[in-house]
Amino acid sequence: MNNTRTPLIVGNWKMNGTLESIQSLLTGIKTDTETLNNIQIAVCPPAIFIPYTKDMLAKTKIAWGGQDLSEHAKGAYTGEISGPMLQEYNCRYVIVGHSERRMYQQESNELVAQKFAAAIKANIIPIFCVGETLQQREDGITEQVVGKQVDAVIEHDSCALLGQGVIAYEPVWAIGTGHTATPEQAQEVHAFIRERIAKYDKKIAESIKILYGGSMKPDNAAELLAQSDIDGGLIGGASLKSADFVAICNRANAQAAV
Ligand code: 13P
Repeated sequence: MNNTRTPLIVGNWKMNGTLESIQSLLTGIKTDTETLNNIQIAVCPPAIFIPYTKDMLAKTKIAWGGQDLSEHAKGAYTGEISGPMLQEYNCRYVIVGHSERRMYQQESNELVAQKFAAAIKANIIPIFCVGETLQQREDGITEQVVGKQVDAVIEHDSCALLGQGVIAYEPVWAIGTGHTATPEQAQEVHAFIRERIAKYDKKIAESIKILYGGSMKPDNAAELLAQSDIDGGLIGGASLKSADFVAICNRANAQAAV
């Protein structure tokens, strides 16, 4: 962590939850993070639960967001949700280019760049995910893959636009597997991403938040968050249990106070 960038902890609930379970999850998070003033917190529920989440989190400091958006603002795109629609429900964030969407919905770097621009246009902060697969890491092409993912947004949009978003480095091999990247492995890629952006704009490289995601848990959060280029976490599994999510928030808050 670096004290010029306020840490951000985001829960990505993916396709999980019922009205009943999210009520107790949100109640827990709301109550137990009330006194944490050094960090920003957000949750990204499945889209259908966004209106309910908005009501539950009204008058708290916790923000909410979508997990995906269409690259289009409106039209005949059955099943899709647009930036302006998320905006109507006061989403502060939206995740774009999550590896699960790159994998299962074949989202390309080009499409992700279009979605990034659509989010900014709707006044929503994109949480732009990048990361390599296990095969790519073993082939020694992590930097090549991640560099290309970052360049796609800068080249399609601009570095200034990228600077309005948040980046999440999520090594695919660490997602949902319990195999988290070591703090050194994560720091190495985070530093690489910052250097890559610095080639275009040093100020933006310094100010942009880069979150880590991939099996972040209460017991490994502190050492990951201690790295100088890791500015928070994008949490999957552990964000579904309020005690775990709150524990990660507590660690980030304590470290940010130092
Ligand atoms: P896990 O924390 O379950 O590994 O998921 C990480 C993730 O994909 C967050 O977007």
